[in-house]
Amino acid sequence: MSQYQSVKGTRDIFPEEAVQWKYVEDIVNTLAALYGFREIRIPLFEYTELFQRGIGSTTDIVGKEMFSFQPDPAGRSVTLRPEMTAGVMRAALQKNLFSLAPVHKLFYIGELFRKERPQAGRQRQFTQFGAELLGVSSPSAVAEVITFMMHVFDSLALRGLKLRINTLGDTDDRLRYREALRTWFSPFHDLLDEASKERLEKNPLRILDSKNPAMQELVAGAPRLYDYLKASSLDDFRKVLFYLDERNIKYEIDHRLVRGLDYYCHTAFEVTSSELGAQDAIGGGGRYDALAKELGSSVDVPASGFAVGIERLLIIMEKQGLFATLPQGVPTVYLILQHQDLADHGMHIAWQLRQAGITTEIDLASRSMKAQMREANKVKASYALFIGQSECETGQYSLKNLVTSEQTTLTLEALFHMLIAQRQSQPHF
Ligand code: HAM
Repeated sequence: MSQYQSVKGTRDIFPEEAVQWKYVEDIVNTLAALYGFREIRIPLFEYTELFQRGIGSTTDIVGKEMFSFQPDPAGRSVTLRPEMTAGVMRAALQKNLFSLAPVHKLFYIGELFRKERPQAGRQRQFTQFGAELLGVSSPSAVAEVITFMMHVFDSLALRGLKLRINTLGDTDDRLRYREALRTWFSPFHDLLDEASKERLEKNPLRILDSKNPAMQELVAGAPRLYDYLKASSLDDFRKVLFYLDERNIKYEIDHRLVRGLDYYCHTAFEVTSSELGAQDAIGGGGRYDALAKELGSSVDVPASGFAVGIERLLIIMEKQGLFATLPQGVPTVYLILQHQDLADHGMHIAWQLRQAGITTEIDLASRSMKAQMREANKVKASYALFIGQSECETGQYSLKNLVTSEQTTLTLEALFHMLIAQRQSQPHF
Protein backbone atom coordinates (compact mmCIF):
# COMPACT_ATOMS: atom_id res chain seq x y z
CA MET A 1 0.00 0.00 0.00
CA SER A 2 1.25 3.48 -0.81
CA GLN A 3 1.74 6.03 1.94
CA TYR A 4 -0.75 8.20 0.07
CA GLN A 5 -4.49 7.88 0.53
CA SER A 6 -7.24 9.57 -1.43
CA VAL A 7 -8.49 12.85 0.03
CA LYS A 8 -11.35 12.52 2.54
CA GLY A 9 -14.68 12.77 0.74
CA THR A 10 -13.34 11.61 -2.66
CA ARG A 11 -13.51 8.12 -4.21
CA ASP A 12 -11.87 6.05 -6.89
CA ILE A 13 -13.99 4.25 -9.43
CA PHE A 14 -12.51 0.95 -10.59
CA PRO A 15 -13.51 -0.82 -13.82
CA GLU A 16 -16.23 -3.06 -12.28
CA GLU A 17 -17.95 0.08 -11.00
CA ALA A 18 -17.16 2.16 -14.09
CA VAL A 19 -19.48 -0.06 -16.15
CA GLN A 20 -22.27 0.85 -13.73
CA TRP A 21 -21.53 4.54 -14.29
CA LYS A 22 -21.50 4.06 -18.04
CA TYR A 23 -24.81 2.25 -17.90
CA VAL A 24 -26.42 5.19 -16.08
CA GLU A 25 -24.72 7.76 -18.34
CA ASP A 26 -25.92 5.93 -21.47
CA ILE A 27 -29.52 6.07 -20.25
CA VAL A 28 -29.19 9.77 -19.40
CA ASN A 29 -27.74 10.48 -22.86
CA THR A 30 -30.46 8.49 -24.64
CA LEU A 31 -33.33 10.07 -22.73
CA ALA A 32 -31.85 13.56 -23.02
CA ALA A 33 -31.99 13.12 -26.80
CA LEU A 34 -35.56 11.82 -26.55
CA TYR A 35 -36.61 15.01 -24.72
CA GLY A 36 -34.48 17.31 -26.88
CA PHE A 37 -31.85 18.32 -24.29
CA ARG A 38 -28.35 18.89 -25.72
CA GLU A 39 -25.15 18.46 -23.76
CA ILE A 40 -23.20 21.36 -22.29
CA ARG A 41 -19.78 21.12 -20.60
CA ILE A 42 -18.57 24.04 -18.53
CA PRO A 43 -15.39 24.71 -16.50
CA LEU A 44 -14.79 23.09 -13.13
CA PHE A 45 -14.21 26.48 -11.54
CA GLU A 46 -15.74 29.91 -11.85
CA TYR A 47 -15.28 33.30 -10.24
CA THR A 48 -16.51 33.06 -6.65
CA GLU A 49 -18.99 35.95 -7.06
CA LEU A 50 -20.97 33.89 -9.57
CA PHE A 51 -21.97 31.45 -6.84
CA GLN A 52 -22.35 34.12 -4.16
CA ARG A 53 -24.80 36.01 -6.38
CA GLY A 54 -26.40 32.97 -7.99
CA ILE A 55 -26.90 30.56 -5.09
CA GLY A 56 -27.28 33.18 -2.34
CA SER A 57 -24.89 34.37 0.37
CA THR A 58 -27.02 33.04 3.27
CA THR A 59 -27.14 29.46 1.95
CA ASP A 60 -25.03 26.69 3.52
CA ILE A 61 -23.35 26.06 0.16
CA VAL A 62 -22.00 29.60 -0.14
CA GLY A 63 -21.54 30.21 3.60
CA LYS A 64 -19.68 27.02 4.53
CA GLU A 65 -19.15 24.59 1.68
CA MET A 66 -17.23 26.24 -1.14
CA PHE A 67 -13.67 25.35 -2.08
CA SER A 68 -12.36 28.81 -2.97
CA PHE A 69 -8.84 29.88 -3.80
CA GLN A 70 -6.89 32.66 -5.44
CA PRO A 71 -4.89 31.44 -8.44
CA ASP A 72 -2.87 34.66 -8.64
CA PRO A 73 -1.85 36.59 -5.50
CA ALA A 74 -3.49 39.76 -6.75
CA GLY A 75 -6.23 38.01 -8.71
CA ARG A 76 -9.92 37.36 -8.11
CA SER A 77 -11.03 34.45 -5.99
CA VAL A 78 -12.31 31.42 -7.88
CA THR A 79 -14.38 28.48 -6.59
CA LEU A 80 -14.66 24.83 -7.60
CA ARG A 81 -18.23 24.55 -8.85
CA PRO A 82 -20.58 23.40 -6.04
CA GLU A 83 -23.47 23.06 -8.52
CA MET A 84 -24.04 23.53 -12.24
CA THR A 85 -27.04 25.83 -12.65
CA ALA A 86 -25.26 29.16 -12.07
CA GLY A 87 -22.40 28.13 -14.39
CA VAL A 88 -24.75 26.95 -17.14
CA MET A 89 -26.67 30.24 -16.98
CA ARG A 90 -23.39 32.19 -16.98
CA ALA A 91 -22.23 30.28 -20.07
CA ALA A 92 -25.54 30.81 -21.92
CA LEU A 93 -25.52 34.55 -21.20
CA GLN A 94 -21.84 34.93 -22.07
CA LYS A 95 -22.39 33.21 -25.43
CA ASN A 96 -25.46 35.35 -26.03
CA LEU A 97 -27.45 32.20 -26.80
CA PHE A 98 -30.77 33.99 -26.49
CA SER A 99 -30.06 36.18 -29.50
CA LEU A 100 -29.97 32.99 -31.58
CA ALA A 101 -33.12 31.32 -30.24
CA PRO A 102 -35.38 32.12 -27.29
CA VAL A 103 -35.31 28.64 -25.72
CA HIS A 104 -32.37 26.34 -24.98
CA LYS A 105 -32.59 22.88 -23.47
CA LEU A 106 -29.27 21.77 -22.00
CA PHE A 107 -28.13 18.78 -19.97
CA TYR A 108 -24.90 17.83 -18.25
CA ILE A 109 -23.04 15.12 -16.39
CA GLY A 110 -20.23 16.45 -14.24
CA GLU A 111 -18.28 16.66 -11.00
CA LEU A 112 -19.12 19.06 -8.20
CA PHE A 113 -17.30 20.05 -5.02
CA ARG A 114 -18.74 20.88 -1.61
CA LYS A 115 -16.84 21.09 1.65
CA GLU A 116 -19.39 19.05 3.61
CA ARG A 117 -18.63 16.54 6.36
CA PRO A 118 -18.17 13.27 4.44
CA GLN A 119 -20.51 10.40 5.33
CA ALA A 120 -22.44 7.70 3.48
CA GLY A 121 -23.84 9.32 0.33
CA ARG A 122 -22.19 12.66 1.08
CA GLN A 123 -18.85 13.42 -0.53
CA ARG A 124 -16.67 16.44 -1.12
CA GLN A 125 -16.35 15.54 -4.78
CA PHE A 126 -19.53 14.10 -6.25
CA THR A 127 -21.26 13.87 -9.62
CA GLN A 128 -24.58 15.06 -10.93
CA PHE A 129 -26.52 14.70 -14.09
CA GLY A 130 -29.06 17.38 -14.68
CA ALA A 131 -30.93 19.52 -17.15
CA GLU A 132 -31.67 23.21 -17.52
CA LEU A 133 -34.52 24.49 -19.69
CA LEU A 134 -33.62 28.13 -20.35
CA GLY A 135 -35.73 30.92 -21.80
CA VAL A 136 -39.26 29.87 -20.98
CA SER A 137 -41.27 30.23 -17.84
CA SER A 138 -44.29 28.01 -17.68
CA PRO A 139 -45.82 25.11 -15.78
CA SER A 140 -45.33 22.98 -18.89
CA ALA A 141 -41.56 23.67 -18.86
CA VAL A 142 -41.27 22.67 -15.18
CA ALA A 143 -43.38 19.60 -15.87
CA GLU A 144 -41.06 18.72 -18.76
CA VAL A 145 -37.91 18.74 -16.60
CA ILE A 146 -39.64 16.72 -13.86
CA THR A 147 -40.89 14.23 -16.44
CA PHE A 148 -37.42 13.81 -17.96
CA MET A 149 -35.92 13.22 -14.49
CA MET A 150 -38.60 10.69 -13.49
CA HIS A 151 -38.24 8.94 -16.87
CA VAL A 152 -34.54 8.35 -16.10
CA PHE A 153 -35.45 6.84 -12.70
CA ASP A 154 -38.08 4.62 -14.35
CA SER A 155 -35.68 3.46 -17.07
CA LEU A 156 -33.18 2.48 -14.37
CA ALA A 157 -36.04 0.59 -12.65
CA LEU A 158 -35.52 2.40 -9.31
CA ARG A 159 -38.22 1.61 -6.77
CA GLY A 160 -39.71 3.44 -3.81
CA LEU A 161 -38.72 7.02 -4.68
CA LYS A 162 -40.75 9.89 -3.28
CA LEU A 163 -41.22 13.14 -5.24
CA ARG A 164 -41.99 16.07 -2.93
CA ILE A 165 -43.13 19.30 -4.49
CA ASN A 166 -43.94 22.82 -3.34
CA THR A 167 -44.48 26.27 -4.69
CA LEU A 168 -42.47 29.26 -3.52
CA GLY A 169 -44.66 31.77 -5.38
CA ASP A 170 -43.26 34.83 -7.12
CA THR A 171 -41.08 37.60 -5.68
CA ASP A 172 -44.06 39.55 -4.27
CA ASP A 173 -45.50 36.45 -2.61
CA ARG A 174 -42.16 35.74 -0.97
CA LEU A 175 -41.71 39.36 0.18
CA ARG A 176 -45.03 39.22 2.00
CA TYR A 177 -44.19 35.81 3.41
CA ARG A 178 -40.77 36.98 4.58
CA GLU A 179 -42.44 39.70 6.63
CA ALA A 180 -44.86 37.14 8.08
CA LEU A 181 -41.92 34.90 9.05
CA ARG A 182 -40.05 37.81 10.66
CA THR A 183 -43.11 38.67 12.72
CA TRP A 184 -43.57 35.03 13.69
CA PHE A 185 -39.93 34.23 14.60
CA SER A 186 -39.12 37.54 16.37
CA PRO A 187 -40.63 36.57 19.77
CA PHE A 188 -38.44 33.42 19.66
CA HIS A 189 -35.29 35.40 18.87
CA ASP A 190 -33.41 34.06 21.91
CA LEU A 191 -34.19 30.46 20.97
CA LEU A 192 -32.76 30.84 17.46
CA ASP A 193 -29.28 29.50 16.71
CA GLU A 194 -26.65 31.95 15.41
CA ALA A 195 -27.18 31.05 11.73
CA SER A 196 -30.94 31.49 12.08
CA LYS A 197 -30.54 34.87 13.81
CA GLU A 198 -28.53 36.07 10.84
CA ARG A 199 -31.04 34.56 8.43
CA LEU A 200 -33.92 36.26 10.24
CA GLU A 201 -32.35 39.57 9.21
CA LYS A 202 -31.24 38.69 5.71
CA ASN A 203 -33.45 35.87 4.46
CA PRO A 204 -35.90 34.28 6.93
CA LEU A 205 -36.98 31.65 4.38
CA ARG A 206 -33.60 29.98 4.91
CA ILE A 207 -34.56 29.19 8.54
CA LEU A 208 -37.10 26.73 7.12
CA ASP A 209 -34.21 24.79 5.56
CA SER A 210 -32.24 24.56 8.85
CA LYS A 211 -30.86 21.09 9.67
CA ASN A 212 -30.81 21.92 13.41
CA PRO A 213 -33.57 19.82 15.13
CA ALA A 214 -34.25 22.64 17.62
CA MET A 215 -34.96 24.98 14.69
CA GLN A 216 -37.10 22.38 12.98
CA GLU A 217 -39.40 22.33 16.02
CA LEU A 218 -39.88 26.08 15.77
CA VAL A 219 -40.35 25.86 12.02
CA ALA A 220 -43.17 23.35 12.45
CA GLY A 221 -45.43 26.07 13.84
CA ALA A 222 -44.43 28.83 11.41
CA PRO A 223 -46.90 30.21 8.84
CA ARG A 224 -47.04 28.49 5.45
CA LEU A 225 -45.93 30.24 2.28
CA TYR A 226 -48.88 28.61 0.55
CA ASP A 227 -51.25 30.88 2.50
CA TYR A 228 -49.51 33.99 1.12
CA LEU A 229 -49.72 33.14 -2.56
CA LYS A 230 -51.74 35.21 -4.99
CA ALA A 231 -54.29 33.54 -7.26
CA SER A 232 -52.03 33.48 -10.34
CA SER A 233 -49.25 31.73 -8.39
CA LEU A 234 -51.71 29.11 -7.16
CA ASP A 235 -52.98 28.58 -10.71
CA ASP A 236 -49.42 28.13 -11.93
CA PHE A 237 -48.77 25.42 -9.32
CA ARG A 238 -52.07 23.65 -10.02
CA LYS A 239 -51.15 23.50 -13.70
CA VAL A 240 -47.81 21.81 -12.90
CA LEU A 241 -49.66 19.26 -10.76
CA PHE A 242 -52.19 18.76 -13.56
CA TYR A 243 -49.38 17.73 -15.95
CA LEU A 244 -47.90 15.36 -13.37
CA ASP A 245 -51.30 13.77 -12.72
CA GLU A 246 -51.88 13.38 -16.43
CA ARG A 247 -48.52 11.58 -16.80
CA ASN A 248 -49.21 9.42 -13.79
CA ILE A 249 -46.23 10.84 -11.87
CA LYS A 250 -46.90 10.43 -8.17
CA TYR A 251 -45.95 13.29 -5.83
CA GLU A 252 -46.54 14.60 -2.34
CA ILE A 253 -47.11 18.32 -1.71
CA ASP A 254 -44.74 19.48 1.05
CA HIS A 255 -45.40 23.04 2.15
CA ARG A 256 -42.10 23.21 4.06
CA LEU A 257 -39.87 22.36 1.11
CA VAL A 258 -37.69 25.40 0.30
CA ARG A 259 -34.49 23.74 -1.04
CA GLY A 260 -30.93 24.78 -0.19
CA LEU A 261 -30.39 27.33 -2.96
CA ASP A 262 -31.90 30.83 -3.15
CA TYR A 263 -32.65 31.09 -6.85
CA TYR A 264 -35.96 29.22 -6.87
CA CYS A 265 -39.40 30.68 -7.48
CA HIS A 266 -42.77 29.02 -8.03
CA THR A 267 -42.24 25.25 -8.27
CA ALA A 268 -39.48 23.53 -6.28
CA PHE A 269 -39.14 19.77 -5.92
CA GLU A 270 -36.97 17.08 -4.39
CA VAL A 271 -36.82 13.30 -4.79
CA THR A 272 -35.90 11.17 -1.78
CA SER A 273 -35.30 7.48 -1.15
CA SER A 274 -35.58 5.60 2.12
CA GLU A 275 -32.60 3.44 0.97
CA LEU A 276 -30.24 6.37 1.54
CA GLY A 277 -30.36 6.98 5.31
CA ALA A 278 -29.68 10.52 6.55
CA GLN A 279 -28.68 11.89 3.13
CA ASP A 280 -31.93 10.84 1.53
CA ALA A 281 -32.20 13.34 -1.36
CA ILE A 282 -31.31 11.82 -4.69
CA GLY A 283 -32.26 14.85 -6.77
CA GLY A 284 -34.00 18.16 -6.81
CA GLY A 285 -34.70 21.27 -8.78
CA GLY A 286 -37.28 23.85 -9.67
CA ARG A 287 -37.94 27.07 -11.48
CA TYR A 288 -35.52 29.99 -11.28
CA ASP A 289 -36.83 32.95 -13.27
CA ALA A 290 -34.70 35.63 -11.60
CA LEU A 291 -31.24 34.01 -11.76
CA ALA A 292 -30.26 35.60 -15.10
CA LYS A 293 -31.12 39.09 -13.85
CA GLU A 294 -29.31 38.35 -10.59
CA LEU A 295 -26.22 37.59 -12.69
CA GLY A 296 -26.56 40.98 -14.38
CA SER A 297 -28.32 39.93 -17.58
CA SER A 298 -30.11 42.68 -19.48
CA VAL A 299 -32.51 40.11 -20.91
CA ASP A 300 -35.01 38.14 -18.88
CA VAL A 301 -34.24 34.42 -18.95
CA PRO A 302 -36.86 32.49 -17.01
CA ALA A 303 -35.78 28.90 -16.49
CA SER A 304 -36.22 25.59 -14.69
CA GLY A 305 -34.10 22.51 -14.14
CA PHE A 306 -33.03 19.66 -11.91
CA ALA A 307 -29.93 17.76 -10.84
CA VAL A 308 -29.52 14.20 -9.56
CA GLY A 309 -26.58 12.88 -7.50
CA ILE A 310 -25.16 9.89 -9.38
CA GLU A 311 -23.30 8.40 -6.38
CA ARG A 312 -26.57 8.30 -4.41
CA LEU A 313 -28.39 6.87 -7.41
CA LEU A 314 -25.81 4.07 -7.62
CA ILE A 315 -26.18 3.32 -3.89
CA ILE A 316 -29.90 2.75 -4.42
CA MET A 317 -29.32 0.65 -7.56
CA GLU A 318 -26.81 -1.52 -5.70
CA LYS A 319 -29.22 -2.03 -2.77
CA GLN A 320 -32.06 -2.90 -5.14
CA GLY A 321 -29.92 -5.37 -7.11
CA LEU A 322 -30.26 -3.49 -10.39
CA PHE A 323 -26.74 -4.22 -11.68
CA ALA A 324 -26.93 -8.01 -11.76
CA THR A 325 -26.74 -8.36 -15.54
CA LEU A 326 -24.36 -5.65 -16.72
CA PRO A 327 -21.83 -6.75 -19.38
CA GLN A 328 -18.21 -6.42 -18.22
CA GLY A 329 -16.21 -5.93 -21.45
CA VAL A 330 -15.42 -9.55 -22.35
CA PRO A 331 -12.70 -10.28 -24.96
CA THR A 332 -13.74 -12.33 -27.97
CA VAL A 333 -10.36 -13.99 -28.48
CA TYR A 334 -7.60 -14.78 -25.99
CA LEU A 335 -4.28 -15.61 -27.63
CA ILE A 336 -2.39 -18.44 -25.90
CA LEU A 337 1.34 -18.43 -26.54
CA GLN A 338 3.05 -21.84 -26.35
CA HIS A 339 6.34 -20.18 -25.47
CA GLN A 340 7.65 -16.67 -25.22
CA ASP A 341 9.74 -16.82 -28.43
CA LEU A 342 6.38 -16.54 -30.20
CA ALA A 343 5.35 -13.35 -28.37
CA ASP A 344 6.19 -11.03 -31.30
CA HIS A 345 4.18 -13.18 -33.69
CA GLY A 346 1.29 -13.33 -31.21
CA MET A 347 1.32 -9.58 -30.75
CA HIS A 348 1.21 -9.08 -34.49
CA ILE A 349 -1.89 -11.31 -34.73
CA ALA A 350 -3.48 -9.45 -31.81
CA TRP A 351 -2.83 -6.17 -33.61
CA GLN A 352 -4.42 -7.53 -36.82
CA LEU A 353 -7.47 -8.85 -34.96
CA ARG A 354 -7.95 -5.51 -33.20
CA GLN A 355 -7.57 -3.66 -36.51
CA ALA A 356 -10.45 -5.83 -37.74
CA GLY A 357 -12.51 -4.78 -34.72
CA ILE A 358 -12.24 -8.10 -32.84
CA THR A 359 -11.78 -7.65 -29.07
CA THR A 360 -8.52 -9.47 -28.36
CA GLU A 361 -6.44 -10.14 -25.28
CA ILE A 362 -2.88 -11.43 -25.07
CA ASP A 363 -0.64 -12.12 -22.08
CA LEU A 364 2.08 -9.49 -21.71
CA ALA A 365 3.57 -10.92 -18.53
CA SER A 366 5.33 -14.03 -19.97
CA ARG A 367 3.13 -16.41 -18.01
CA SER A 368 2.98 -20.17 -18.56
CA MET A 369 0.46 -21.65 -21.02
CA LYS A 370 -1.55 -23.01 -18.12
CA ALA A 371 -1.73 -19.57 -16.50
CA GLN A 372 -2.75 -18.01 -19.82
CA MET A 373 -5.59 -20.56 -20.20
CA ARG A 374 -6.72 -19.89 -16.64
CA GLU A 375 -6.81 -16.16 -17.40
CA ALA A 376 -8.74 -16.70 -20.67
CA ASN A 377 -11.42 -18.59 -18.71
CA LYS A 378 -11.39 -16.08 -15.88
CA VAL A 379 -12.04 -13.11 -18.17
CA LYS A 380 -14.74 -15.20 -19.93
CA ALA A 381 -13.20 -14.94 -23.42
CA SER A 382 -15.30 -16.62 -26.11
CA TYR A 383 -12.32 -18.30 -27.84
CA ALA A 384 -8.73 -19.30 -27.11
CA LEU A 385 -6.42 -19.19 -30.14
CA PHE A 386 -3.27 -21.31 -29.71
CA ILE A 387 -0.02 -20.01 -31.14
CA GLY A 388 2.70 -22.63 -31.23
CA GLN A 389 5.69 -23.42 -33.41
CA SER A 390 3.78 -25.82 -35.68
CA GLU A 391 0.88 -23.32 -36.11
CA CYS A 392 3.37 -20.70 -37.27
CA GLU A 393 5.02 -23.11 -39.70
CA THR A 394 1.85 -24.63 -41.21
CA GLY A 395 -0.42 -21.55 -41.01
CA GLN A 396 -3.10 -23.78 -39.41
CA TYR A 397 -4.16 -22.56 -35.96
CA SER A 398 -6.18 -24.36 -33.36
CA LEU A 399 -9.10 -22.48 -31.89
CA LYS A 400 -11.04 -23.56 -28.84
CA ASN A 401 -14.57 -22.36 -28.20
CA LEU A 402 -14.43 -21.74 -24.44
CA VAL A 403 -18.19 -21.98 -24.07
CA THR A 404 -18.73 -25.34 -25.82
CA SER A 405 -15.11 -26.66 -25.52
CA GLU A 406 -15.25 -27.50 -29.26
CA GLN A 407 -11.84 -27.33 -30.97
CA THR A 408 -11.19 -26.56 -34.67
CA THR A 409 -8.17 -26.01 -36.88
CA LEU A 410 -8.25 -23.14 -39.37
CA THR A 411 -6.15 -20.52 -41.14
CA LEU A 412 -5.95 -16.98 -39.80
CA GLU A 413 -7.89 -15.79 -42.84
CA ALA A 414 -10.73 -18.21 -42.08
CA LEU A 415 -10.65 -17.12 -38.43
CA PHE A 416 -11.00 -13.46 -39.39
CA HIS A 417 -13.93 -14.25 -41.71
CA MET A 418 -15.69 -16.27 -39.05
CA LEU A 419 -15.29 -13.67 -36.30
CA ILE A 420 -16.27 -10.73 -38.50
CA ALA A 421 -19.38 -12.62 -39.68
CA GLN A 422 -20.30 -13.40 -36.07
CA ARG A 423 -19.84 -9.79 -35.05
CA GLN A 424 -22.12 -8.64 -37.84
CA SER A 425 -24.87 -11.04 -36.81
CA GLN A 426 -24.47 -10.26 -33.09
CA PRO A 427 -23.57 -6.57 -32.64
CA HIS A 428 -22.63 -7.14 -28.96
CA PHE A 429 -20.30 -10.02 -29.81
P1 HAM B 1 -28.94 20.13 -4.93
O1 HAM B 1 -30.21 19.72 -4.25
O2 HAM B 1 -28.01 20.98 -4.17
O3 HAM B 1 -29.41 20.90 -6.25
O4 HAM B 1 -28.18 18.86 -5.47
C1 HAM B 1 -28.83 17.88 -6.25
C2 HAM B 1 -28.40 16.49 -5.82
O5 HAM B 1 -26.97 16.37 -5.83
C3 HAM B 1 -28.79 16.11 -4.41
O6 HAM B 1 -30.14 15.71 -4.34
C4 HAM B 1 -27.84 14.96 -4.13
O7 HAM B 1 -28.32 13.76 -4.70
C5 HAM B 1 -26.59 15.39 -4.87
N1 HAM B 1 -25.63 15.94 -3.89
C6 HAM B 1 -25.60 17.18 -3.37
N2 HAM B 1 -24.57 17.32 -2.51
C7 HAM B 1 -23.93 16.12 -2.48
C8 HAM B 1 -22.78 15.61 -1.78
N3 HAM B 1 -22.06 16.37 -0.96
N4 HAM B 1 -22.42 14.31 -2.00
C9 HAM B 1 -23.12 13.53 -2.85
N5 HAM B 1 -24.21 13.97 -3.54
C10 HAM B 1 -24.61 15.23 -3.35
C11 HAM B 1 -28.57 21.48 -7.13
O8 HAM B 1 -27.38 21.28 -7.18
C12 HAM B 1 -29.27 22.36 -8.16
N6 HAM B 1 -28.26 22.93 -9.05
C13 HAM B 1 -30.32 21.59 -8.92
C14 HAM B 1 -30.99 22.39 -9.99
C15 HAM B 1 -30.73 22.33 -11.31
N7 HAM B 1 -31.94 23.28 -9.80
C16 HAM B 1 -32.27 23.81 -10.96
N8 HAM B 1 -31.55 23.25 -11.88
